[in-house]
Amino acid sequence: MRTYRVALLGCRSRGTSQAKAIVQHPRMELVGVCDLLPERLNALGDRFGVAARYTDFEQMLREQQPDIVNIPTATKFHAPLATAVLRLGHHVDVEKPLTLTLAELDQVMTAQRESGKQLVPHHQAAVHPPAKKLRELVKQGFIGEPQAVRLRNKGYYGGYGIIHQGCHALALAISVVGPARAVSAHMVTAGRPTTVDDVYQGPYGYGLVAGQHMTCLYELQNGAYLLNEEHYRPEVDSSTIRFEVVGTEGALALDHAIPEKVYYSNSPHWHPVRTEWSEVPLSKEERAAGGYDFLDPAVKGMDLWMADEWVQALDEGRDHVINASVGVSTMEMIHGAYASHAEGRRIDLPQASRDHPFERWLAREGRPTPPPAPPGYGDWIAWALAQPQNQPPALVRS
Ligand SMILES: NC(=O)c1ccc[n+]([C@@H]2O[C@H](COP(=O)([O-])OP(=O)(O)OC[C@H]3O[C@@H](n4cnc5c(N)ncnc54)[C@H](O)[C@@H]3O)[C@@H](O)[C@H]2O)c1
Repeated sequence: MRTYRVALLGCRSRGTSQAKAIVQHPRMELVGVCDLLPERLNALGDRFGVAARYTDFEQMLREQQPDIVNIPTATKFHAPLATAVLRLGHHVDVEKPLTLTLAELDQVMTAQRESGKQLVPHHQAAVHPPAKKLRELVKQGFIGEPQAVRLRNKGYYGGYGIIHQGCHALALAISVVGPARAVSAHMVTAGRPTTVDDVYQGPYGYGLVAGQHMTCLYELQNGAYLLNEEHYRPEVDSSTIRFEVVGTEGALALDHAIPEKVYYSNSPHWHPVRTEWSEVPLSKEERAAGGYDFLDPAVKGMDLWMADEWVQALDEGRDHVINASVGVSTMEMIHGAYASHAEGRRIDLPQASRDHPFERWLAREGRPTPPPAPPGYGDWIAWALAQPQNQPPALVRS
């Protein structure tokens, strides 16, 4: 049984979670770590006992020859780093969202095709045991022909939520029912249709975002539809995420309260009282990965299941279930929804225009690039909601 060599490029928060999963998995070895900042590099290297430490990732790849390079860096670095690592001949596991723009997506996909290596966006929520079980049951025809997918986000500001967290649910949905061929979306901000003046710089360097509440209706390639509600709520809460697939003969849904579970209803219809849901039990084998059980408290977070899917895929000589094509469709669906509202029409996917839909919107309406906004979500949301155009109109008394 082969052990896969993994190198880590980025040693802060997400790098630490991923390193923990890599060292936990008995079929993976963390062979090198890299960060531009020596204090982060040494903190992570010390914590996980990795002696091979680098500030230059190309040197790390030359000396360590990893099978897989994990890239948990800020999003603006995903495209250039993933492109460089693919061109150096390594599989890439890059944090989500895969890229900031479709132009960047095209660039990294050219490198992926030319290298023949795998490019995997890090959607750990699409590979944990309940998600895997749901995917398998749908593919086995357990609920008949899939007809509808219903998603609801965890409460982030809509236009930011869809690219920050909604991308996980979209990637899972694509891996279950396939990609979309078109989208119609509308956005509402402060109770009125979102305008070009509501285009802001998003938090955490995510680029342009707009739309406090986004409602997206996707036509899927298999003829089914997907409804995605990315609506702002004051509390961000994972347990409120909705993920439901409805088929001709029943429905399956994930409960995102921890530990996640998968539920089944034998009816494709919905009724507030008569619809019955029951938990689908997972066998011990289905809950297991790398010697750990899904319910084992030693495994906090989902990254171990991402690592395990890599091991299974490489062992079997197949693509990771969350592969480049899932990543591409996820980005097309997000940017397609942005374009649909900005252009006031249904958008066929993939879009012909590869620049950012909100950049096009600003240019069409003769607006300058929006100024910098607070970088962290807590400050950003307070700032966005306090913008003058988002205040309710003053009461006029006659
Ligand atoms: N999958 C998830 O559930 C999840 C959750 C939150 C955030 N994210 C994603 O994770 C990413 C952010 O992760 P983070 O908060 O740990 O990032 P961060 O920016 O705080 O840290 C990234 C580290 O990478 C290093 N780095 C950047 N460029 C480098 C280079 N060229 N060479 C070497 N080191 C380099 C930086 O010095 C930094 O220490 C974002 O893309 C975000 O969308 C994913």
